[in-house]
Amino acid sequence: MDFLWLFICYLIFLILGVSTFCFFSGRSTRGLDVALCRAEQVISRLSPFWLQRCIGRCFHTRSGAFVVLHLVLDSLVFAEYTWEVLDYSLELEINWILVFLPYVLISVNLYYFYKCCTSDPGKVTKQNEELYTRVYEYDEILFHHSNKCATCHLLKPARSKHCGVCGNCIQRFDHHCVWVNNCIGALNIRHFLLYLLSLTVTAACLAAVITAFLLQVVLLSHMMTAAYVDSRGQQEIASLAYVIQHLFLTFPRIIFTLGFLFLLIFFLGGYTCFLWYLSITNRTTNEWYKAWRVSASPRGYSRGILSNLKEIFQPYTRYQKER
Ligand SMILES: *[C@@H]1O[C@H](CO)[C@@H](O)[C@H](O)[C@H]1NC(C)=O
Ligand SMILES: [Zn+2]
Ligand SMILES: [Zn+2]
Repeated sequence: MDFLWLFICYLIFLILGVSTFCFFSGRSTRGLDVALCRAEQVISRLSPFWLQRCIGRCFHTRSGAFVVLHLVLDSLVFAEYTWEVLDYSLELEINWILVFLPYVLISVNLYYFYKCCTSDPGKVTKQNEELYTRVYEYDEILFHHSNKCATCHLLKPARSKHCGVCGNCIQRFDHHCVWVNNCIGALNIRHFLLYLLSLTVTAACLAAVITAFLLQVVLLSHMMTAAYVDSRGQQEIASLAYVIQHLFLTFPRIIFTLGFLFLLIFFLGGYTCFLWYLSITNRTTNEWYKAWRVSASPRGYSRGILSNLKEIFQPYTRYQKER
């Protein structure tokens, strides 16, 4: 049973790790308020100077650290999949379309990842401030008329926000995403939504193949009906815990990867649903957060799912001069 404890500890560590990343990557807009700010203050007081600088560099200035980390994680998962799962899965006669589908999906995902990293989120500049200001009306609840940005001294269009990391005001600001090292705004949120969706689907597909593979192994080896001799010399029928333990010892890396994928699906899937939900109701993460903080509910801007999506996926109809 020691093994199960180890496995549970591993899961807890993984959950903690992933939640820390989620927290930090979304912190520019959604830091869970005072409690977390306090926690951060305490941590920064306790941690050594070099660590603070490192964290500061990763989260408060533009740096490719998380882009690199993202690519490394991608490569690790796919290397593992290719070396250990692919051959066996084909031998075990799992449908080859399903087995090769993850490669197609990750290509789609990398395309949108690249788009998110490099595209213009909708920077407000001297040339386009007039045009951008005319796009949305000020609601005087969350966004007030005749505000100028204190840092870039340009007009502040409704729904925009100054991003301290990028140093620009961004039209229809959603949030600054460290994973793509770019802001998410009016002109690239469509790429971001598709990026999130394709990443979740890729993870789900990988998890499906790996689960099918493990099930096939268990079924073909008759592990569930096998008996083993325990330490007291008695014959026992293998239990579920025994089977899991056996799989873990036989394919440790595959099981680790599967655990990671399940967590990814859980957190990323939740976040993807959240952002898609905001999008089809014509809101941004920034507005959702602001509304929550001032406990206002400036709703009623939605003109139906289709026109909301149209605004996101064809932003250039509103910024025609830009083209
Ligand atoms: C979305 O909301 C904004 C106000 O926040 C409004 O100006 C805009 O017309 C709305 N767009 C759609 C498609 O409903
Ligand atoms: Zn600004
Ligand atoms: Zn930014």
